[in-house]
Amino acid sequence: EADLESKLPLKGKKILITAGPTYEAIDPVRFVGNHSSGKMGFDIAHSAANLGASVILVSGPTHCVANHSLIQLVKVISAQEMYDVCHQYYADMDVVVAAAAVADYKPKNVAEQKIKKSDDQFVIELEKTKDILFSLGAAKKQQFLIGFALETENEIENAKAKIQKKNLDLIVLNSLQDEGAGFQKTTNKVTFINKDFTIEPMELKSKEAVADDILNKVIAHFYE
Ligand code: CTP
Ligand code: CA
Repeated sequence: EADLESKLPLKGKKILITAGPTYEAIDPVRFVGNHSSGKMGFDIAHSAANLGASVILVSGPTHCVANHSLIQLVKVISAQEMYDVCHQYYADMDVVVAAAAVADYKPKNVAEQKIKKSDDQFVIELEKTKDILFSLGAAKKQQFLIGFALETENEIENAKAKIQKKNLDLIVLNSLQDEGAGFQKTTNKVTFINKDFTIEPMELKSKEAVADDILNKVIAHFYE
């Protein structure tokens, strides 16, 4: 039995993962969004399920497929929907990994009908979406909270500020500096920053391998 448990070290643990982009409607046929493929979040979900965890995977629009009986996929479109679903499950969770590329802004007004072209210039007024991870950090109890950070300058300093602001236990800093890392890629170069601000730079590797590294940090949290 001890042997079985060592093979499934996250058996019985409940993990909520956000993935993919969010789409913020402009009108019935248009949206504000981004190029996130969702792959990083889906890879984390599969790694967690393979370790025995029960996974709630909350994903924006993506072509990724969840292929594991321990993964419950909840599809959403907008940041508000992702926020609502995360809070619906949060109280019960042991771990949260926020891998979604949530839109920071959404159109202030959503047109009921398709907007017709008229003037040469067209301005869309945007307002902030809710910061899902910030709200989860503010409500944190037992949850081990992992966020991502995408930075193009002052990477480490900005990521540390996000740890504090969002009350995180770990942040996974994405280095866009490196060829082969980031959106629409199959590889990723990340740096782990722990809540005590210790820094662990990782090698460039496949997103599956990065997912395994993240789950190793989760296992270490429960067993060390
Ligand atoms: N995040 C979130 N809800 C948002 C925006 C971001 O949950 N509305 C989460 C992301 O999933 C990620 C973390 O917050 O885990 C950091 O996202 P990032 O875009 O790097 O940072 P922001 O806080 O949005 O700040 P900025 O984009 O200005 O750097
Ligand atoms: Ca952002």
